Amino acid sequence: MPAGLTVITGGTAGVGLALARRLAHQGEQVVVCGRDRTRVAAANARPGIEALRCDLTVESDIASLAAELHARGGIRLLVNNAAVQFGYRVAEHDRDDVLRDVDTEIGTNLTGPVKLTALVLPLMLPGSTIVNITSALALTPKRSAPLYCATKAALRSYTTALRYQLADDERGIRVVEAMLPLVDTAMTAGRGSGKISPEHAARELLEGLDRNRSVVHVGRIRALVALHRLSPALAARLLRDS
Ligand SMILES: NC(=O)c1ccc[n+]([C@@H]2O[C@H](COP(=O)([O-])OP(=O)(O)OC[C@H]3O[C@@H](n4cnc5c(N)ncnc54)[C@H](OP(=O)(O)O)[C@@H]3O)[C@@H](O)[C@H]2O)c1
Repeated sequence: MPAGLTVITGGTAGVGLALARRLAHQGEQVVVCGRDRTRVAAANARPGIEALRCDLTVESDIASLAAELHARGGIRLLVNNAAVQFGYRVAEHDRDDVLRDVDTEIGTNLTGPVKLTALVLPLMLPGSTIVNITSALALTPKRSAPLYCATKAALRSYTTALRYQLADDERGIRVVEAMLPLVDTAMTAGRGSGKISPEHAARELLEGLDRNRSVVHVGRIRALVALHRLSPALAARLLRDS
């Protein structure tokens, strides 16, 4: 990959921070963003990482982040990593939760990455890479987080279409989907088993990029994708209550 900036949204915690730390350790110039000012300050204190405050659901924040990036020069790697996951049951008592959270979940997981990518596309260097992070839940949803699954399925589809479009771009920009398994972060606190660490996820993701994959399957995702190909119904049953 060329020299230039690495940009990781949601790089102030979880998988994004593990990616940022690993790349900064390798000497990359890394810019991350997040909403919480304390986490932004903590990330800023780490060597090789510059953290900027940005809420991807706020149009003016995305524009400011893009302007900051334009001031810093070309991007070699953009990782659209930030996401939130809300659990609720639409048919029961959680209608107020749905109404309150719907824009945050879609804005963070889908429209935010789409807008940021569009704004910084002119900055992508020849041979650079855009990575959008999805999940097995992009293939088939689970019961408890309907909108999260819908945003990941939409991001998966968007990523494939963007890859088709940029195939004609003379800069040779790669567009990669990275599908993660359960990772031990704040997003999965108190649920799931067999989680891998954020550091493990970051290492496998970067190894997949080094191997020039268009879709990077981290951990047991490879087996889940194979199962989904063989029997979508069985995969759906397995993930429905995951
Ligand atoms: N953990 C898993 O098991 C798992 C499985 C499959 C896929 N994934 C995917 O992996 C990625 C990373 O997840 P994670 O588990 O590392 O999550 P995490 O630990 O909850 O971290 C999420 C990061 O995104 C930031 N963020 C959240 N909302 C934001 C917003 N509106 N604007 C800007 N930044 C925002 C958070 O910081 P602030 O809260 O301070 O903004 C934080 O830095 C996500 O795309 C997730 O869907 C995770």
